[in-house]
Amino acid sequence: MLANDKGRKQTDPLVRTPFPGPKGKALIKQLSERPRLGGYENPRDPGYVLMMAAQRDGYVWDVDGNRFIDFNSGWATNNVGHPTKEIVDSAVEVLRDYGVVCSSDGIATIHRYELAGKLLQTLPNHIQRVAYCCTGTEAVEGAMKFMRAATGRSNIISFHANYHGLSYGAMAAGPLLSSMRDPVMQAMPGHIHTPYASCYRCAFKLEYPSCDLWCAEFIEDILTRYTAPPESIAGILVEPIQGEAGIWVPPEDYLPRLEKMCRKYGWLLCIDEVESGFGRSGKMWAFEYSDVKPDIVVIGKGISGSILPITAIAATPEVMDREVSVGSTFGGQPASCAAAIKALERIEKEGILQNCARLGEQGLERLRKMKERYPLIGDVRGRGLFLAIEFIKDHKTKERDYEIAKEIYYDCMENGLCLMYDSNWFARMLPVLDISADLFLRGLDIFEEAVQRADAKRRQERKAS
Ligand SMILES: Cc1ncc(COP(=O)(O)O)c(C=O)c1O
Repeated sequence: MLANDKGRKQTDPLVRTPFPGPKGKALIKQLSERPRLGGYENPRDPGYVLMMAAQRDGYVWDVDGNRFIDFNSGWATNNVGHPTKEIVDSAVEVLRDYGVVCSSDGIATIHRYELAGKLLQTLPNHIQRVAYCCTGTEAVEGAMKFMRAATGRSNIISFHANYHGLSYGAMAAGPLLSSMRDPVMQAMPGHIHTPYASCYRCAFKLEYPSCDLWCAEFIEDILTRYTAPPESIAGILVEPIQGEAGIWVPPEDYLPRLEKMCRKYGWLLCIDEVESGFGRSGKMWAFEYSDVKPDIVVIGKGISGSILPITAIAATPEVMDREVSVGSTFGGQPASCAAAIKALERIEKEGILQNCARLGEQGLERLRKMKERYPLIGDVRGRGLFLAIEFIKDHKTKERDYEIAKEIYYDCMENGLCLMYDSNWFARMLPVLDISADLFLRGLDIFEEAVQRADAKRRQERKAS
């Protein structure tokens, strides 16, 4: 608990000033008058920035002392909770002794081996090797290098609206939108894209299960016939739940269908668990909801123990026992490994997966009821504490409603709930996985109140027009 939060009860008002508060507003003004950041770093709407002071115990605080229930979790990263003393202490102790170590031919540290051992215990037995990187993007790049090196083939199949990061290779494989991918496409051959099993917005306008998963069969029947022959394909790179695209949970037989194709043609199945993994879905790995044996698993975000960057590629010896240039100066730092080990222990000991699965079910049920009540909600989906709500203008056309999504997001901020939102037509709820039931339900209440207001406003506007 923060010093300025002493004496507050959980039921106290969360936001005590207009949002953003006076200190936050002044800081944002001051900083935007002397811009030092570039690219994505500058907020799209400087009028609505949470100038953060701290994050702890399921909340984030702003510089005005307002606290917000955190349904953002450091963009899906603080899986094992906001930084705990135990995790921070373990990393600090290692930092004092080791600082930065670049593991190389001549220098090793024990932490990388210990973490590898612990990570492998969470994965199927046939996955026996681990390589470390610093970001999810880098790990995806590394995984694709292994896919190509192990098969001697160049093409990789990935999915419309997948997100794998922002380097050239990761963008070419899946940076969500064609507008993002376009600048790199000329430089990056070897990527084939195909529709994901996003059933509410099926690219083929079919319905599950009568579609018999045509979106998977399309790869074999159409793409290998007209786009690239099977013997040119190294494998399939897939998110087991598409996160950035709006938390699309595919039917349970979807991944097995992809795997079957992989086995038939000698392709590798590479599962990107950067966002869906490390407990986020209520199981350690989201692919565990299906009966599949991936060849490669890409791990990121939550493995950081909510404090230090570290990511990993885990794979079979057949894939990884070869010289492939994957790694970096900062990959697998001793202190990051120490934090990751503690994060894994926290998952083992604290019932975090159970909490996530239980609250996730309650959350989804509540959101489904809201969908029945409020016509501006088109679809709700998710697994564990990995939930999305789509806003639409009309149920028939499913026209995406960006404006309502923004309005609801701002309303939630003004009332003490920080959602995960990126100027899309949907909002996401990704609290820390150790959130208490009370806090989670209170967050849902704030969300429902915002939806109610938006719904009433829309009804009035429609009546008036
Ligand atoms: C599925 C997936 N893969 C890869 C990445 C890239 O990870 P990073 O931002 O750590 O580079 C992300 C980031 O959101 C992701 O969601």
